[in-house]
Order: sequence, then C-alpha cells, then structure tokens
Amino acid sequence: MHNSLIVLFTLLFVSFNEIIADEHNHIYEDHEEVVVDEYCSKQSISHYHETLSEALEGVELEFSGYAIDFKDPVPAGTVTCMVELTEEKYKAFVYAVKNHYWFQMYIDGLPIWGAVGKERERKYYIYTHKRFDIGYNGKQIIDVNLTNEHEQLLHVGAKISFTIEINWQPTNTPFKDRFDKYLDPNFFQHRIHWFSIFNSFMMVIFLVGLVSMILVRTLRKDFARYSKDEEMDDMERDLGDEYGWKNIHGDVFRSSSYPILFTSLIGCGYQLVSVVLCVTSFAIMGELYTERGSLLSTAIFVYAATSPINGYFGVLYMLEWVEKFGFDKCFGRNLNGQPDHPCRVNAVPRPIPEKKWYMEPAVITMLGGILPFGSIFIEMYFIFTSFWAYKIYYVYGFMLLVFLILIVVTICVTIGAHIFLLNAEDYRWQWTAFLSGASTSIYVYIYAFYYFFFKTKMYGLFQTVFYFGYMALFSGILGIICGTVGYVGTTFFVRKIYSNVKID
Ligand SMILES: *[C@@H]1O[C@H](CO)[C@@H](O)[C@H](O)[C@H]1NC(C)=O
Repeated sequence: MHNSLIVLFTLLFVSFNEIIADEHNHIYEDHEEVVVDEYCSKQSISHYHETLSEALEGVELEFSGYAIDFKDPVPAGTVTCMVELTEEKYKAFVYAVKNHYWFQMYIDGLPIWGAVGKERERKYYIYTHKRFDIGYNGKQIIDVNLTNEHEQLLHVGAKISFTIEINWQPTNTPFKDRFDKYLDPNFFQHRIHWFSIFNSFMMVIFLVGLVSMILVRTLRKDFARYSKDEEMDDMERDLGDEYGWKNIHGDVFRSSSYPILFTSLIGCGYQLVSVVLCVTSFAIMGELYTERGSLLSTAIFVYAATSPINGYFGVLYMLEWVEKFGFDKCFGRNLNGQPDHPCRVNAVPRPIPEKKWYMEPAVITMLGGILPFGSIFIEMYFIFTSFWAYKIYYVYGFMLLVFLILIVVTICVTIGAHIFLLNAEDYRWQWTAFLSGASTSIYVYIYAFYYFFFKTKMYGLFQTVFYFGYMALFSGILGIICGTVGYVGTTFFVRKIYSNVKID
C-alpha cells in the first residue's frame, strides 16, 4: 500500500513535470547549438533529451554527434566519421541494406527518415552523404529536408567516410504549422473514414431503436400479466404460469463467481474509460502529436491521476459482494445511503433450466462482440496503421466519436442479449455481461492477425513477438473497457426492470 502510493506520486510528479516543463522551447539564437537526436548511434552524448515515455517505449535517443548551429551552414564534404569495413561491419551494413533498414533522427523535434543504402543488381551500396535543407522562420526551425547522396559499393576493407552538408533557408511558414507536412489528410480523412463513422452512427440509431423495441414489447406484456397476478391468491401464484425473467428475482442479485477478480476488472475498467476519454480530449485540444512522446506522458499522468476512480468503484462493487455474505447490517448500503438491491436474494439458489444452445452464456458471450467490433474495425485500421507504419495519428475527434459509438453499441448489445438470457431464467448475468462486451477484443485480436499477414511486411521472431505482444496488450485493454461498459449498462438495466417488480 505504502509502496504503491509512493510509486503513484512519483509517476504523477514525473509525468506532470514533463507535460508542463518542456525541456526545450524550440527557440534558438543565431549560432546556438540545435538539438539533434538519432537512434542508436554510439557517439558522444551532449544533449541527452530523454523523457519518461521514451524510456518506456524502449527508445534510446542519443545525440548524433553532428554539430549543427542555428543558421550556420556546413559546407559539402564535411566529414563526420570514418569507418573501415571489417568483415563484421561489412556484414552488418549488408544486412541493413538488404532488409531495407531506415534510420530516423530528430532535429529540434522534427522527425527525419532516410534509407541506409540500396541494392542494385545484387550489389549493396551505402549512402555516404547527407544533405540537410533546413528552413527557419525567425528564431525557430520550421522544416527539414534530408537528401541522401553518393552511393558507395560495400566490400570488405572499404574505407567509408560519412559526410554532411547543411543549408539554411528562410521560410514564411508559421511555427505552429510545422507539423502539417507530416500529417497525411489523404489517408486519415479519406472518404472511407468518414463513411465508416457515418455507418457506425447509423448502426447506433438502429440498435438503440431495436433494443428499446424489444424491451418495450417484452416488458409491457410481462407487466400486464404481473399486475393481473396481484389479484390471484398465493396458491394460485405458486402453481401459476409465471415465467421468464421475473421468476428469478430471488437470484439475479446473487453475487457473481470469482467476486474479487470481477471487482478488480470493473474498477480497472472504470479507470481505463476515464483515461481514454481524458487523453483523447486533451489530444483534441492540445495537438499533442507535435511533441514527441507527449501523448504517452499525458496518458501516464492521467492514468496515475485517475487511480482513485479505480479504488472508488472497486470498493463500491466489493461492498455489494460483501453484503451477499450476510454483512448487510454493516455494509449493505452503498455510499449514497440507498438500499442496495431492488430484490432480496433467496437463501437457496434456483436451478437453471435447460435451454437452447444459442442461449448458453458462452454463445452469447461470443456473439456479443461482433457488433461492437463491426462499429470500430475501420478505426482500428487507421490506429494500427499509424502505430505500425509510423504515420502521425491526428484525427482524435474521430477517435473520440468512435469510442462513444463503441460504448453505446456495447451497452445496447449486452442489454439486448440479457433480455433473452434472463427470460431463459439464467441469473448468472454478471460475468456474461462483462464477457460479452469483452469479447470485442477477441475479434480485434483476430483482426490484428489479418492485419499482420496482409497489411504489414513484418517477419522474424523479434518483429512477430513485438507485434503480437503489443496487440495483445491493446486488445486486453479494449476488452476490459468494453466488458466494464457492458456490465455497467446491464446492471442499470437489471436494476431498472427488477425495481418495478413488487415482491410481497
Ligand atoms: C523541402 O521540400 C519541400 C517539398 O519538396 C519544399 O516545399 C520545401 O521548401 C523544402 N524545404 C527546404 C528548407 O528546402
């Protein structure tokens, strides 16, 4: 407890610091040294410009060893380093060229990509000259273009000298627009993207309509029967033709199996939903993509800051569970002081009647994820592509909209499924509600397989493990979110219908 509090506050403090206090304000005086970071080049380190999120991503940025001073041109032919190709280095270079390795660097936070070399007629060449054209506006760097020149044939014993050249050009583009050229509106704001959101939106309207129609039809019929019931005497009622969901009023509020696991998942789900909502809203307002790693820093900050939400809802659900074990005198009221459940729980559980195979909880669980997945899978394509193809994702408005749609669809589907489940007199609804929402993540993971084989060119153990590991994490988080949403929606529904049932 103590330790986790310390960790929590450290996380809060570190990430908060990173968010408010940017280490570099992107303003340079003439001749001031410009921050240049490059992946994995082992040279002298002068600006170690690493943030918490980069450490977590496993990115090690190091100062590239290039001395670039603001507005000072560097003439062509300036040698940055000399390499003599030993057998070992030769193999490393050939491997890199053969596998189309790219390098990535950042000048003042602006990303630059370049190929290491190229293959022509089964011979391997490496680029030895890099020309940077840097555009500046006032005291700020706006634009960097990299041109690779001078191919040199790789062979053992070759002496390679890497050279650079830097030209400075004034430009009128304002600083705030400098990331625009990295965005890809033709991709992200493609017709298909708009169309899919419109489509999901129509699906929401349709589903809400459908579920409310089923609800009204089933419940109205039942309530009508029930009010007639009141005129019957007890004998008649015991023999009576009561059926369906009303029959199990003495069991629906029985606690779920594995209550501790269940409560932790729900508490965690509440927290994750708030993290997603906060981070996407911040991203919409703050254009977080312009500062490397700031999205992840924000996410960590929000995650740490919202952990009380997890505790609050975790305890709420835990109290409900404690009550089932007969402690209702002390705990059985929730924090609002309201009586807890609309119906008492019978001492002896009722047997669950046989039902058709498609009413089995396992089947409902699996089917429950299909529609929510259908409402998000095009967005998944865009998110996967921006993550794995290193495109900058910036349409967070879409993301927020799709997330809200996902929530509504999940709630509708789980409620719809539970009308049938409860009518089949199966009262084990808590896990079914959670899992039928959470099964969305199974479909997302299956989609991740499709994406891997048909949309990426990854191969080898490392990339495969990396890809599927991240995707499992992503699907897992999505699963907890959808599961919680499904459960909360169903709880609301179940309480609502059973609170209208007057039992003796
Ligand atoms: C970089 O390239 C783009 C597109 O070719 C061009 O519009 C821009 O002016 C170039 N920037 C500099 C600083 O040369």
